[in-house]
Amino acid sequence: MAGITNAAYRRLCSEQGTLRDGRGATASGTAGLYVCEMITSRGLVEGDATTRKMLVFDEQEAVRSVQLYGTDPAYVGKATEILCAEYGVAHVDLNFGCPVPKVTRKGGGAALPWKRTLLGEILQAAVQAGARYDVPVTMKTRKGIDEDHLTYLDAGRIAQEAGVAAIALHGRTAIQSYSGTADWDAIARLKEHVDIPVLGNGDIWEAADAVRMVQQTGADGVVVGRGCLGRPWLFRDLAVAFSTDPAVRTAGGPELPRLGEVTTMMRRHAELLGQHMGEERGCKEFRKHVSWYLKGFPVGGDLRRAMALVSTLAELDALLVRVDPDAAFPLGELGTPRGRQGSARSRVALPEGWLEDTDGTDCVVREDASETTGG
Ligand SMILES: Cc1cc2nc3c(=O)[nH]c(=O)nc-3n(C[C@H](O)[C@H](O)[C@H](O)COP(=O)(O)O)c2cc1C
Repeated sequence: MAGITNAAYRRLCSEQGTLRDGRGATASGTAGLYVCEMITSRGLVEGDATTRKMLVFDEQEAVRSVQLYGTDPAYVGKATEILCAEYGVAHVDLNFGCPVPKVTRKGGGAALPWKRTLLGEILQAAVQAGARYDVPVTMKTRKGIDEDHLTYLDAGRIAQEAGVAAIALHGRTAIQSYSGTADWDAIARLKEHVDIPVLGNGDIWEAADAVRMVQQTGADGVVVGRGCLGRPWLFRDLAVAFSTDPAVRTAGGPELPRLGEVTTMMRRHAELLGQHMGEERGCKEFRKHVSWYLKGFPVGGDLRRAMALVSTLAELDALLVRVDPDAAFPLGELGTPRGRQGSARSRVALPEGWLEDTDGTDCVVREDASETTGG
C-alpha cells in the first residue's frame, strides 16, 4: 500500500505474523508476503531517485516482494530484470487495479486490462524477465472499469496464458473506487474460470473475514489492504487462522490487544521508521498512523492530537505513558471498515476512445515515472 507498507511497517507486520514458537507457521514461517509499496517501471529503469529510495528492505526481510506499476511491456520487462538482478527480489506483483484518475486517464492501473493484447504483452515481458531468475510474477486487478466494462475474467485467462503465478482480484470496479462492499462472488467466478491460484481482496477486516472469504469463494489466499492500518497484529491472527497445524487453529488466536499492547506496537513502529529514515522523518511518517492505532480506544482528543504531532521518540514516549494500558480492546471496532472509503465516482477518466477497441497493441500509453498513488 502506497505510503504505508515501507520497510519499517513490513517488518512490524512480519514480526506480528510470525508465530514465535514456530507452531503452525506457514512454510515461509510467516503469515505470508509483505509487499513493498508500488514503484513505477519507468521510474526504476530511468533511475528516478524517489523510486530508488522506496526500494529499501529491512535486514530481516527474507523474502523481498515488490509491486510494479507499468503500461509499457519494454519498461516492465526491464524493471523486473532490475528488481531481480540488482535488488534480489523474490516476487514481483504487477498493479492493474489503481482507480486514481491521473493513472486511469493515461490508460494505466484498472484501465489497462481493457486492452487485452497490451495486457498480455506486459505480463509476458515481466514473466519472461522473472523466469530468468526463477522469480514468480503475479498480478493484481479489479473487476473492471465499471459493470458494463468488466475485465477480470479475460485478465485471468490472459494472465494464465502468460505464465503468471497467481492473480489477485479486488472485488470492486474502478468507478466504485473504495465505496460500497467488495463483490466476493466475482472472486468465486474468477476461481472457477482459471487454473492458476486466485487471491481474493476486499473488505477483510478481521482474520475471520479472511477465512469466510476463502470458504465462500474457493480462493487460494487473500490480500489484505486497509484492514492492517493500525493493526499489524492482524497478521498474527491470520497466521493462526490459516495455520497448517490444526491444534493451533483450535486453540484460537491470542486475546485482543489491550491498549498497553497497542502502544507497545506504536512505539515499535515509530522506532523502526526511525531506524530506516532517521528519527525526525520517521516520527513525521508515524503521525498518520496514530488515529488508526487508537480508533475506538478511550484516549482523549488532546492526547491523540499531540501524538499526531510528535517529532521525537522521547516525545512519543512521554505521551504513550499517559494512556491506560489496561483499557480493553473496543469490541465495537471489530469488523468495521477503516481507511479510505469515500463514494463512487461519476465516471472513470480514460484516454480518448479507450473503450472503442480491446486490443491496444499500437496505443501509446505514456507512463508517469513518479506515479505512486497505489491501487
Ligand atoms: C492508502 C492505500 C494505498 C494503497 N496502495 C495500493 C498499492 O500501491 N497497490 C495496490 O495494489 N493496491 C493499493 N491499495 C489498494 C489495496 O491494496 C486494496 O486492494 C484495497 O484497499 C481493497 O482491499 P481492502 O478492503 O483489504 O482494503 C491501496 C489502498 C489504500 C487504502
